[in-house]
Amino acid sequence: MRESLRARLCSSATSDFVYVLSTKDHRTPSSMNVSVVGLGKLGSPLATVLASAGHSVMGVDTNERVVAMLASGISPVPEPGLQELLDANCERLTATTSLDEAIAGTELTCVIVPTPTGSNREFSLEFLLPAVTSIGKALRAKRTRHVVVITSTVMPGQTDGPIQETLETALGEPLGSRVGLCYNPEFIALGSVIRDMQRPDLVLIGSSHSWAADIVERLAGSFCESDPFVAKLATIDAEIAKLAVNTFVTTKISYANMIAEICERLPGANASAVTEAIGHDRRIGGEYLRPATAYGGPCFPRDNVALTALAERLGARAEIARATHATNEHQITRLVDLVERSAAAGATVAVLGLSYKPGTPVIEVSAGVSLAHALSGHGFRVRVFDPEALEQVGRDLETSAHVTASLEEAVFGADVVVIATAWPQFAGLDPQTMLADCGSGPKTIIDCWGLLEAANVPKGIELVRIGFGDRVLPVSTSAAPEA
Ligand SMILES: NC(=O)c1ccc[n+]([C@@H]2O[C@H](COP(=O)([O-])OP(=O)(O)OC[C@H]3O[C@@H](n4cnc5c(N)ncnc54)[C@H](O)[C@@H]3O)[C@@H](O)[C@H]2O)c1
Repeated sequence: MRESLRARLCSSATSDFVYVLSTKDHRTPSSMNVSVVGLGKLGSPLATVLASAGHSVMGVDTNERVVAMLASGISPVPEPGLQELLDANCERLTATTSLDEAIAGTELTCVIVPTPTGSNREFSLEFLLPAVTSIGKALRAKRTRHVVVITSTVMPGQTDGPIQETLETALGEPLGSRVGLCYNPEFIALGSVIRDMQRPDLVLIGSSHSWAADIVERLAGSFCESDPFVAKLATIDAEIAKLAVNTFVTTKISYANMIAEICERLPGANASAVTEAIGHDRRIGGEYLRPATAYGGPCFPRDNVALTALAERLGARAEIARATHATNEHQITRLVDLVERSAAAGATVAVLGLSYKPGTPVIEVSAGVSLAHALSGHGFRVRVFDPEALEQVGRDLETSAHVTASLEEAVFGADVVVIATAWPQFAGLDPQTMLADCGSGPKTIIDCWGLLEAANVPKGIELVRIGFGDRVLPVSTSAAPEA
């Protein structure tokens, strides 16, 4: 009964509040009592996935709204499949603002609070260290073993450095035999977080405390449906590996986009055919090797920048990470260039897709948003549309672009349409709608994701496909700068 799962507000000795969904016990002998500190885009899915594996999970957040939602069986973040998984497992999930209560009632704590990029381009511990201090203080009252797992993305050296120091100071004793510290990042993409958590290729566990690493390995294994490679490493190696995975993947993306730009200048060339072919070479691999547009989101861009900043701080060279980032930024210039070859300033351009990828409303560092701003700056009249991200649009974008409520409204009579995000809905775009506004000049669709069939685009509209040399571009003096 859905109603029986509704949260009951339980009295608590502190001013904090605890919601309990149900007392029904589904635990198996290997089940653990786990707390998850930080119930955001990563924390809420992890808490739910852990509950789905039979663990008793207590989620903690400083945000009372987030706690109340999760406790009411409502997903606090929009993530495909999360609500369904929560519905099926909420009897093993509680949520609270009381860290003391969560630490007292659990044996392992995952910390997933923000680590924003600081002014030095590295990850800041401004949220993490206060959380770790509170965890350490709460652990003073316990005598049993406890594992603290850092899941937030941190800089190499931070876990065994300031995080460990802070935890030990708050705890009043050295880590090791009673309290263990591990670094265990998740490799997820918003929009497929549940699947990515349950089917990882790689589980990274960094720790100086092998007993704690063993527990984290068991916990990760309890919800993995794949057979991932488990790398138990020195903490610093795990921290470097987390950044190395993301920067390598972004390098593949920028590489494919570099090939695309070259192909667009060679008559008859097709970058997709090239990257698909080379992806079959096992030394290369086809994943994330596809010509499109800039990568974005809350992880990829900043991980690259952080690795570059780290290298600079250490006096090492990181030309590859820097070039990957520069190539990525250049993708927006490249798109503006393509639009300018299609229409003069003052023309109406519809940018379809504001989220950084399909399946999520997150618009952080998104190609669509960057493009809309850039086109507005170049004197175009910009319309934007996204099937899920419109509520995220801020005032700055509203002043640069007209936010439309439907795909049809965005496209109606537009001179140029740019498909910036691969939302499946955009494959259903009716190009005829562009022609509805007669009397204007030539019309162009720039399809960054190969969603449209050329045969479905009527006469009078040019389809520009990223990476195809069928609209050969003259050699430009504004070619990509040296990284
Ligand atoms: N979102 C992603 O795609 C992703 C992927 C991999 C890694 N990460 C990393 O995970 C971490 C969290 O990212 P996110 O996207 O989930 O962040 P988020 O902003 O969506 O959520 C963070 C949550 O932590 C809560 N919080 C902050 N301080 C707290 C405290 N002291 N105690 C309890 N709760 C606290 C906030 O209220 C918020 O609900 C970051 O380090 C990020 O780099 C995120």
